[in-house]
Amino acid sequence: MIYDILKDVYQAGISIARSPAVDSATHVFARKPDRMRPGPDPGPFETMSFFHAVTHRRSRRNFSSQNLPEPVWAAFLNRVFTRIFAGQDPDETGAAASGFLEMAMISRNMEGLAPGLYPFSRDGAALACRQTGVSAMDLARVCLDQAWIGRAAMNFLFVVDLAAMEAALGARGYRYVMMHAGRVGQRLYMAAQELGLGCCGIGAMYDKEAAALLGLNHGSVLLYAVSAGPVK
Ligand SMILES: Cc1cc2nc3c(=O)[nH]c(=O)nc-3n(C[C@H](O)[C@H](O)[C@H](O)COP(=O)(O)O)c2cc1C
Repeated sequence: MIYDILKDVYQAGISIARSPAVDSATHVFARKPDRMRPGPDPGPFETMSFFHAVTHRRSRRNFSSQNLPEPVWAAFLNRVFTRIFAGQDPDETGAAASGFLEMAMISRNMEGLAPGLYPFSRDGAALACRQTGVSAMDLARVCLDQAWIGRAAMNFLFVVDLAAMEAALGARGYRYVMMHAGRVGQRLYMAAQELGLGCCGIGAMYDKEAAALLGLNHGSVLLYAVSAGPVK
């Protein structure tokens, strides 16, 4: 038996624009952030073998309130964003989706960086303060009160303007932005593993409360978040 509703759901997700607009980045935050500033230079850290990093990767949530030294978070961001595929993904749809995904971070106990909300440039090389006073604790609250989120030094946020994305990419675009967020999320996991930090994905959140907390434009949503930082 083939149910019509399942057929309709399937049909809605097949189409994707023929020539997706790769550079049609939208602005998901209602208020403009300060001017972007480049991230600090990464410190010299020994590299771990890829095999070791992959096989030892796991979700660690026992975050501590220890200070995160600037060379460590600089190295972390460097590892996450170096040769990131934004706009140059060999897969055309992946590249298009990456153009719609905005990344930001809520900082806490990061040396040299006031606690607050920091959007990244698309290549991750620069960040800007959008709002101080947004805390990891606030994020924990809108993520189903998962207290460990409030103790993480870095909380990474993946945000998309769903209406703009669907207008450009069609219904299937949702799948691609999700996949892109997941790929960057795994980079965060791997960088944390390499630098001895904890890391854990967050898929559980109250959508409306999260959008209000982050000051998102109407139609923009928090898709996914990842906590990272020193663990006990
Ligand atoms: C997309 C995604 C969302 C997740 N959301 C949560 C979450 O909200 N809360 C939580 O405690 N763990 C969350 N996790 C972590 C999973 O619980 C964890 O990855 C899973 O138990 C497998 O363990 P491992 O990552 O150590 O292999 C999430 C992981 C992913 C990939």
